[in-house]
Amino acid sequence: DWTMAAYREEAIAKIRKQVGKGRVICGLSGGVDSSVAALLIHEAIGEQLTCVFVDHGLLRQAEAEQVVTLFRNHYNIPLVHVDASDLFLKELEGVTDPETKRKTIGRLFIDVFDAEAKKIGGADFLAQGTLYPDVIESVSFHGGPSVTIKSHHNVGGLPERMKMQLVEPLRELFKDEVRALGRELGLPDAFVGRHPFPGPGLAIRIPGEITREKIDILQKADAIYLDEIRKAGLYDVIWQAFAVLLPVRTVGVMGDGRTYDHVLALRAVTSTDGMTADFYHFDMNFLGRAATRIINEVRGINRVVYDVTSKPPGTIEWE
Ligand code: XMP
Repeated sequence: DWTMAAYREEAIAKIRKQVGKGRVICGLSGGVDSSVAALLIHEAIGEQLTCVFVDHGLLRQAEAEQVVTLFRNHYNIPLVHVDASDLFLKELEGVTDPETKRKTIGRLFIDVFDAEAKKIGGADFLAQGTLYPDVIESVSFHGGPSVTIKSHHNVGGLPERMKMQLVEPLRELFKDEVRALGRELGLPDAFVGRHPFPGPGLAIRIPGEITREKIDILQKADAIYLDEIRKAGLYDVIWQAFAVLLPVRTVGVMGDGRTYDHVLALRAVTSTDGMTADFYHFDMNFLGRAATRIINEVRGINRVVYDVTSKPPGTIEWE
């Protein structure tokens, strides 16, 4: 792709010019955006970059290993992996309000990140995989008056505190362009094509209080749902698919017994930039298969529903 080859060269030149001999620290989330930003910056300034991956305990199944393996083994880029799940889950105890969840996670992320940055002797620049839609969606909604729909989790607040300048090489790009750039940088297909995953992670897919048990249930159910989507050959036609564990229990029957367990909602949407989205029209047989597997294989769920809301009026995530 010649456009992305040119963009890559330009972006690298810009990063070198901005950063000079400075040190850059980059927060990796495991998503495509921060991964592509990190690869680009690494190509531009090599060892001047340190990547930090803060694991808040709210990732999808096997996600942490995938990120660590990609950076350390595939690219040989040094990566600091911080397991901060105890801290995050403790601070989230009893928190049910969506914005409070987001703000709590954002604040802790800054604390952990700040502490890690100090350990490596500080940095002059902070790199982020901010995209164009992030820039506009946190500021205004559909060109209307400035209203925050959701406070997007990024490391806002950190630059001032650490007296760092931001390096945001993807700020002009949309998601499909970031993916093209990722391919240009040799990012494996499995990574380039990954569905977006929000910074606050599974916290915003567990309406109500977050517990380790709920995270565990959700990780298992989500993995089965995505496995079925891959098997049906649908992963790449869907923008984002995930499960949401509802704070509602319903009565069911299994064998000769009555059950009283959680409801799981399945979500899948098509979109080009995440700003608007249509719910995905699955074949009912597919949904039935996924539901049966989830209920049979995951303890704690006895009912599955499908979300048929588009954006607007719904948002993609439930919180
Ligand atoms: P919504 O739910 O606002 O989501 O329709 C639009 C897209 O943004 C993702 N999303 C986030 N991404 N930090 C992120 O990096 C966040 O706090 C965040 N909240 C939502 C969401 O998954 C969807 O792709």
